[in-house]
Amino acid sequence: MLVWARLTVFLTLGLFARASFISTVLDAIESAVDCASCHALLTVLQGVAIFGDSVFSSALVGVCQAVNAEDDDVCKGLLTEQGPIIAHDLRSISSLGQTATKFCNAVIGLCQEPDVNSYTVPIPKAAPANPKVFTSTGKTPFQVVHFSDVHIDRSYTVGSEVNCTKPICCRNFADQSGPVEVPAGAVGSHGCDTSTALSQSMLKAVAAENTRFSIFTGDVVEAAVWLVDQTEVTSDLQTFNAEMAKFVNSPVFPAIAPINAFPRNTSSGAPSSQWVFDIQSQGWNQWVGTTASGEVQHMSGSYSAIPSGTNLRIISLNTIYWYKDNFWLYDSNSQQPDPNGILAFAVQQLQAAEDAGQRAWIIAHMPPSSGDAFKDQSSYFNQIVQRYKNTIAAQFYGHSHVDEFAIAYSDFSQQTAANANSIAYIAPSLTPRNANPAFRVYDVDPDTYEIMDSRTFSSDMSDPSFQTAPTWKQEYSARSTYGPAIGGWPSTQSLSPAFWHKVTEAFVSNDALFQQFNSFKTRGVGVVPCTGDCKTNTICNLRALRTESGCHTATPGLNFKRDEDVDLTARGHADHCEGTGVRSILGNIASKAVCTPLNFKSMDPDALRERLEAIFKDLE
Ligand SMILES: *[C@@H]1O[C@H](CO)[C@@H](O)[C@H](O)[C@H]1NC(C)=O
Ligand SMILES: *[C@@H]1O[C@H](CO)[C@@H](O)[C@H](O)[C@H]1NC(C)=O
Repeated sequence: MLVWARLTVFLTLGLFARASFISTVLDAIESAVDCASCHALLTVLQGVAIFGDSVFSSALVGVCQAVNAEDDDVCKGLLTEQGPIIAHDLRSISSLGQTATKFCNAVIGLCQEPDVNSYTVPIPKAAPANPKVFTSTGKTPFQVVHFSDVHIDRSYTVGSEVNCTKPICCRNFADQSGPVEVPAGAVGSHGCDTSTALSQSMLKAVAAENTRFSIFTGDVVEAAVWLVDQTEVTSDLQTFNAEMAKFVNSPVFPAIAPINAFPRNTSSGAPSSQWVFDIQSQGWNQWVGTTASGEVQHMSGSYSAIPSGTNLRIISLNTIYWYKDNFWLYDSNSQQPDPNGILAFAVQQLQAAEDAGQRAWIIAHMPPSSGDAFKDQSSYFNQIVQRYKNTIAAQFYGHSHVDEFAIAYSDFSQQTAANANSIAYIAPSLTPRNANPAFRVYDVDPDTYEIMDSRTFSSDMSDPSFQTAPTWKQEYSARSTYGPAIGGWPSTQSLSPAFWHKVTEAFVSNDALFQQFNSFKTRGVGVVPCTGDCKTNTICNLRALRTESGCHTATPGLNFKRDEDVDLTARGHADHCEGTGVRSILGNIASKAVCTPLNFKSMDPDALRERLEAIFKDLE
């Protein structure tokens, strides 16, 4: 009732009352210290959302600016864009229901994620009694390049400030003052996204690998999301499609990435994301063909395609409907097991591959192992993996920006080499934000389409020649590095799920090997030794392609810095994947409230009022 009273005052009395209204929200945030009080906070926020998107967004901007969660322009740009989605969510759900708990888990970090809701994915046919066995005849492997998370900043400005106060730097920001401390390099700098020069250098290096084809697991747009709009996204996507076509002289099979949030087709009143699917359908047609390009358009960005001259079905899935940062997923109290039919599409395509005696690769942006993936959909997808494990030769993802992998088991409670039955290759990023830019080359067996070797190439930014002519060198081969460490691996055998399980066993007993892996993750940049819980959790997560079996726990405000990724967030604000978002802003606010009580009551009332008035003046 207090909220309603304050709101009335807010709407009728102007500036000063609005300032006191912001204090109400701040009070609620301040008292949100556990899961139950997070639900209470949502009730307060719902009271605001009822007054419309712009009232809600300006209130959030006010809160964000008042606590200096980010620079003022970042607060404003981001919350003006994403605030309306959250307002729509809050108007659509009960503040006490499971969706609200998921929101409090993902966005505010105060609830643990609910247990998986039981659901059986419909499967058209039982597994064959005698599944087709794919046997290698020892032919020379062919090469496939895998690149990911390019995050190209078309406004990257050579000589601009690297050490800025924004989530992403190396641009001329309007509010930047004083001389440049650290000038942005001609090709790239850590703390910044990818320059056009760096992106083109990588594409030329990809072409030099003489690949049969490439896979690209997404994320084109730079992390300055508080400035990005539909016009810019459209131009970014089209420009990179054109550059891939120009520089890479073989087909590219891409996966859709979180350009923005994708509403479910059941959301009423949500804007449509169809324009993204239309752009990519058109841009990818040249590589994936007409049928697949039609699927991109009508299956929410997913498609399947068979590279010419192969017996391999590449199934590209839009996993953004399983992604905790897709805020449109919190707009219903009912738990939809398969938003937009992505799981059903995967089943249909895998069944088609099995029926035709083809092998399959799954490619997507976000891996189901991610702490950013909902346990529900990750678990349902694992049912599909278990059913079609003989058809799936391997899975390929990006999103984490680090060089890693994840394993699935027939029984996750008995994690052994014998039970390991699917392997996900998670590629390092091109963006040099927190690491050296990198891509992978796979040596692929032409009979089984299994991976014979995975070799990571990177460009060393500490080499002075990087800023004039970056070179791309093989950093390591998985077979040469890990084979001897697991007591040898026969050259005729692929890097199977069992191989990778044995690698994780070697990590446990051979700490030098594990620290080597830890360094490979960021290609040697900003490496912090990972010991104790860090090591235990990292290995736990490598063994958890089904994320509920991993060791991801929510921490207030720090939820976006998930355990193994702490080393990647040294700049404080930058989310490891999509850059600063609503999640990290609310996380910053919540963590300030929880870790250092905001104590607005003890602030000088005149100073607070002045600050809030300035904020509102700016908003009008
Ligand atoms: C970067 O900025 C921080 C905070 O403004 C400052 O403490 C640090 O010295 C700067 N680093 C360099 C290399 O100028
Ligand atoms: C949403 O998409 C799925 C998969 O294409 C489809 O089966 C379903 O009918 C669609 N629902 C609505 C309301 O359009």
